[in-house]
Amino acid sequence: MRRAVCPGSFDPVTQGHLDIIGRASAIYDEVVVAVLINKTKKSLFTVEERMQMLRESTAGYGNVVVDSFHGLLVDWCRTHRVPVIVKGLRAISDFDYELQMAQMNHSLAGVETLFMTTNPLYSFLSSSLVKEVATYGGDVAHLVPASVHTRLLERLSEGR
Ligand code: PNS
Repeated sequence: MRRAVCPGSFDPVTQGHLDIIGRASAIYDEVVVAVLINKTKKSLFTVEERMQMLRESTAGYGNVVVDSFHGLLVDWCRTHRVPVIVKGLRAISDFDYELQMAQMNHSLAGVETLFMTTNPLYSFLSSSLVKEVATYGGDVAHLVPASVHTRLLERLSEGR
């Protein structure tokens, strides 16, 4: 069985993430979306909330599962016998850091990274920008799944 992992913070999942996850799911038998548990980084949603939103948004694919991890991604890859990381590349500005991580992950554990070019519809999109725009009342409904949009507005209104 050919398996790949799409790792990230997904705080929260956007249409850009889903575009990459969906296209990866058409290539691999199983795609695991792995949410990084990073206690030092302030997040809007808990890891469990992010995983739940991912489960809801990827339910239609049939071969996408959601997991979480802490520590090194390559250790998770080794434990779960997943040899490939799939990442989206939005712009050249993503490239330097992504290349560095891909080469480090390969040198640490022989794990391959395959880059998928982001759909131009979403090349400007990031979870941080979605949160910032929504915080100041901008309309982000077209940039995240409907259930995520509802939760986002709820969470932001809790802080007001
Ligand atoms: O959505 P993000 O925050 O851009 O995702 C970054 C992520 C989670 C893919 C990356 O930070 C990662 O793999 N972190 C796990 C720790 C790790 O393996 N670090 C070494 C990278 S070479």
